[in-house]
Amino acid sequence: MSQEPRIRRLVEELSLEEKVRLTYGANDPEGRATGYVAGVDRLGIPPLRMADGPLGVRIPDESATAFPASIALAATFDTTLAREHGEALGRETRGKGQDVLLAPGANLVRVPHNGRNFEYFAEDPVLSASFAGAVVAGIQSQDVVATPKHYVANSQETARAAVDAEIDERPLRELYFPSFRSAVEADAGSVMTAYNDVNGTRMSDHERLVRDVLKGEWGFEGYVVSDWFGTEGAADAANGGLDVEMPGITMAEMQSAMAGDDADAPDAADGDGDGEAGELPDAIAEGMPDPESCERFADSLVEAVESGAVPEGRLDDMVARVLGTMDRVGLLEDGEARRASGDPTGSDDGAVDTPAHRELATRVATRGTVLLENDGVLPLSDDADVAVIGPNVDEPVLGGGGSSETTPVVETDPQTGIDERAEGEVTVAYGLPRIEAVSMLEEFTAGSEDDRADPSREPDLEGAAATAREADVAVVFVRDTASEAIDREDLRLPDRQEELIEAVAAANDRTVVVVNSSGPIECPWRDEVAAVLENWYPGQAHGDAVASVLYGDADPGGRLPVTFAPEDAYPTADEQRYPGVDGTARYDEGVFVGYRHFDSTGREPTYPFGHGRSYADYEYVDANLDLEGGTVHVTVENTADRDGREVVQVYVRPPSVADVDRPVRELAGFESVSIPAGERVSVAVDLEELAFARYGENEWTVDPGEYALEIGRSSRDVRATVRTELEAAFRERTRESLATDEAPPTDG
Ligand code: BGC
Repeated sequence: MSQEPRIRRLVEELSLEEKVRLTYGANDPEGRATGYVAGVDRLGIPPLRMADGPLGVRIPDESATAFPASIALAATFDTTLAREHGEALGRETRGKGQDVLLAPGANLVRVPHNGRNFEYFAEDPVLSASFAGAVVAGIQSQDVVATPKHYVANSQETARAAVDAEIDERPLRELYFPSFRSAVEADAGSVMTAYNDVNGTRMSDHERLVRDVLKGEWGFEGYVVSDWFGTEGAADAANGGLDVEMPGITMAEMQSAMAGDDADAPDAADGDGDGEAGELPDAIAEGMPDPESCERFADSLVEAVESGAVPEGRLDDMVARVLGTMDRVGLLEDGEARRASGDPTGSDDGAVDTPAHRELATRVATRGTVLLENDGVLPLSDDADVAVIGPNVDEPVLGGGGSSETTPVVETDPQTGIDERAEGEVTVAYGLPRIEAVSMLEEFTAGSEDDRADPSREPDLEGAAATAREADVAVVFVRDTASEAIDREDLRLPDRQEELIEAVAAANDRTVVVVNSSGPIECPWRDEVAAVLENWYPGQAHGDAVASVLYGDADPGGRLPVTFAPEDAYPTADEQRYPGVDGTARYDEGVFVGYRHFDSTGREPTYPFGHGRSYADYEYVDANLDLEGGTVHVTVENTADRDGREVVQVYVRPPSVADVDRPVRELAGFESVSIPAGERVSVAVDLEELAFARYGENEWTVDPGEYALEIGRSSRDVRATVRTELEAAFRERTRESLATDEAPPTDG
């Protein structure tokens, strides 16, 4: 329980019923918050309001800046930018009169098909942890509670609420924990548990992982909140370390709250599968938890405490964690006052959709764009005649489906972005009917009837090819569709988009493909085209951002945070591992996820982790290791006649140890730097301890022997190597800093 005397006194003044009321969700009387904990007026405790992220602040029927997807942010390999991004999210959350942002998504990208990969950062724990920490620090700096989610091993949406992740301690420690631990170290005020089980226990009542590891070992002092309808037994959850149960209201109440003022808002889902308003299509329904199986804190916690099934000390700790977190962001001081200062909806125009946030959304979308291939066609010359082709070129790709869906105030689509930038002629051909993205929220609140199809768009590949033939350059925009609650069926582009690319490429050998995807896709057509850009889900600034990269106003600063390969090449191609058999997904690839897998099997990825080209060229002049300072100093020269942005990456190759399988290399550090034409810069890359250590025999170990530090442009493009024997003192320091206090808290 909190040591803060003020919080202890407050807890003592609460009745049993009042305490319990602070541990579960209720309906927001304003109908705006996705999660709402009612306050206690009598003691001046204000309510706690939670809004969804991580792509922007989502409130039904309201707008906010629609930022690029998290994976696009991670592709910048720039944690300073991530911090700025977090600050903007925090500012908008506060500007909307909300106290908590349910973000960032901190799960590791293990399964390339995962419908929520766009909400996560990377397949590598050092990259993912750096971004989780930076975004959390940014959000919290605005006196807003960050909620990294979903703790832990929530790697798939297929059966996400039922699957048991069977996983060893080593991959948990080396891969899946670090982002959450880093978020805790960055002072996250809360952590959301995942829907899935881990090793046979539901995450919402996982005593070992929640109470012992998160709170005990990492010293997490905030509150642990369940994912929506993610709990089962109330007493088990409370005793396991869960502090707040969400949403605390029924599915029907939540659906109508989410529908906002929508006249079609459903009364309830009747579950007969006929697709009427409010009833989810099967694919989404399978990814949803069963609200009926939750035992609510509201219904049973008072009795559980009275009967001794949950110790009162535990309840006091739950409440102290909620109040302590509210206090840390200043809510107990000025909670209602700070809301009253905004307009009646709580939306403060000075903080939401500001010019600075619009510019940031554009900058992140631009900087995260990855140039996968380029035979010289890019950057485009200003006066080129450009054919803009693709079924969705007249709308920006704001994000994927689900709780992160954000509605912007302003947006630019690719067609407009290019049209505004081009000095040559711009022609447009759709080629195919619009690819309908899944809006889980629309399905959830207005039924599954599809009234969005545009009948005027018949497939016309020949027309698209003819438009391409007339132009100097053809730019084809293609996209996937991904959503919470549903995984992608495969990694190919949906509908006939591959055919469209082939038809256009056959008509114009200066064809550029811009991919808007949630994660890796297969690109069997890549040899037929002149350039490929991975532009992720860029958000509201889509058109401006992609135009600035296409025309070379900005260098493509992005690098891949995930490996691109054919789907059968990933470790999760084995159905035992994904989606699992008989309700169990075996994580028996261990630590060999992402590039660790491709390196160890010797299989060539299509595009390796860390890959991304620049319009400039770089020479790595020299590299030195300062082991004491934990830094590699690299001098990089931009040998081109244009300014560029380079991402210097450092990987550790550990020595081999008998009977231990280690990845060939692990990312240890990275630094994104802008280098003017013809200039040299000295880059200092800080090294993360995690890359030197392995988790074996229940503790962190740093093996003696020779380590090679590979410095380069990607995990497969090494430009310099420095070898070192780690001194005993360094090894011990590294081990100690990773080791944690093993003692579980007494009443937490
Ligand atoms: C999602 C969470 C989200 C919550 C509230 C759940 O279905 O998994 O990420 O924060 O809903 O909308």
